[in-house]
Amino acid sequence: MTADDVIRAWDQADPTAIHPLRNVSEGAYWESGRGQAEMLATVIPDGAKVLDFGCGDGRVAIPVAGLGFEVTAVDASQNMLNRLTERDPDVTTVQADADGIAGHLGRRRMDAVYTLAVLIHHSYQDCLHIITKLRAATKLGGILVLDWPVSDQPAEADSWIGVTTWSREQQDEACAAIGLEPVESDLPWGVYRAIKPAA
Ligand SMILES: C[S@@+](CC[C@H](N)C(=O)[O-])C[C@H]1O[C@@H](n2cnc3c(N)ncnc32)[C@H](O)[C@@H]1O
Repeated sequence: MTADDVIRAWDQADPTAIHPLRNVSEGAYWESGRGQAEMLATVIPDGAKVLDFGCGDGRVAIPVAGLGFEVTAVDASQNMLNRLTERDPDVTTVQADADGIAGHLGRRRMDAVYTLAVLIHHSYQDCLHIITKLRAATKLGGILVLDWPVSDQPAEADSWIGVTTWSREQQDEACAAIGLEPVESDLPWGVYRAIKPAA
């Protein structure tokens, strides 16, 4: 799977594919986003400028904005962004993949970037590329929250809906190369501080 394959598949996907709770109820789906927004707020400074990469239809971005963060919701899928805007027209959306972020931001940098249920669908190589671009979008000292699960038997996703898992060593090596320092947290995702100027 190339990144373009994953992007194309999500653009055409049924919105129920985003999260298993959507098959339970719409209420449970949006409640899960509110819960994750509150978790993110424990590691992101109040009022921060935050980029949600691969925001989908705003499950998390909308409640993050509701908590007072200045959110830029980025997704390659215009279909996803249209659904987000329909639900909350006040959230800023940008249609872009990882390579398109820099063109949108110009000289601006984010205080924090998070990406949930996005890296899991990409190959190792594409993940490293995406994380490098997300690091470049974050100011020095800023926070990155990455949903890239560790496994004893790491493997790459074999379809657009599959899950890529990592060894701890792979992640440590990637963080050292990109300039990310792990931050202690109770979150189920990796939390990092950007510690050296972006490449
Ligand atoms: C499983 S959904 C997750 C949506 C949201 N983050 C959430 O947790 O509810 C994955 C989303 O990431 C987007 N996406 C996947 N790969 C991407 C890429 N390389 N660049 C931009 N968007 C991407 C898809 O279009 C889709 O909207």
